[in-house]
Amino acid sequence: MDDSLERVASEVRICIKCPLSETRTQAVPGEGPANAAVFFIGEGPGRTEDEKGRPFVGASGRFLESLLRDIGMDRSQVFITNVVKCRPPDNRDPKPLELAACRDYLDRQIALVRPVVVVTLGRYSMERYFPGAAITKIHGQVKRIGEVSYLPLFHPAAALRSDAWRAAMKEDFKLIPKLLSESGRSGL
Ligand code: URA
Ligand code: SF4
Repeated sequence: MDDSLERVASEVRICIKCPLSETRTQAVPGEGPANAAVFFIGEGPGRTEDEKGRPFVGASGRFLESLLRDIGMDRSQVFITNVVKCRPPDNRDPKPLELAACRDYLDRQIALVRPVVVVTLGRYSMERYFPGAAITKIHGQVKRIGEVSYLPLFHPAAALRSDAWRAAMKEDFKLIPKLLSESGRSGL
């Protein structure tokens, strides 16, 4: 059978490939249109996400939505997911073994959606495309590989804790419509 986003999501919901399955309430596969041009990758579900089974629905999510609104977009136009699909207890950082176990789901989602702009939110998704880089140095610096632009941004939760980072994130977000128009794609 051909792979599909629904198939990935149903595998994620019952996944027991790593120990995060033992402490989660619900797995959070991610969501968005199958043909989204912009693809956001966060770190992992927080408390609200774990309860609702949806990504970025707490304070970080509200900030992300306001940033999208500022560039004339909304979350229904973009794909949003995380490097690990289950909540790390007490929001601790995901462990290498958990990241490795979960990696295939994100790889498949990206291969299926084929976005033109991939936005990494925070260190763990940045590491996939900018290994060893420091977020404070490279945020907002686009890397182009083939048809795809990779844009490393702060994590919204981190940006919410710092005025300077919040301002930087707003500036960096303005690159998204620019990259979209360069690619010839609109928001969807
Ligand atoms: N933070 C994340 O990294 N992901 C979410 O889904 C929510 C908060
Ligand atoms: Fe499976 Fe990923 Fe959840 Fe681990 S975090 S149980 S690999 S879906």
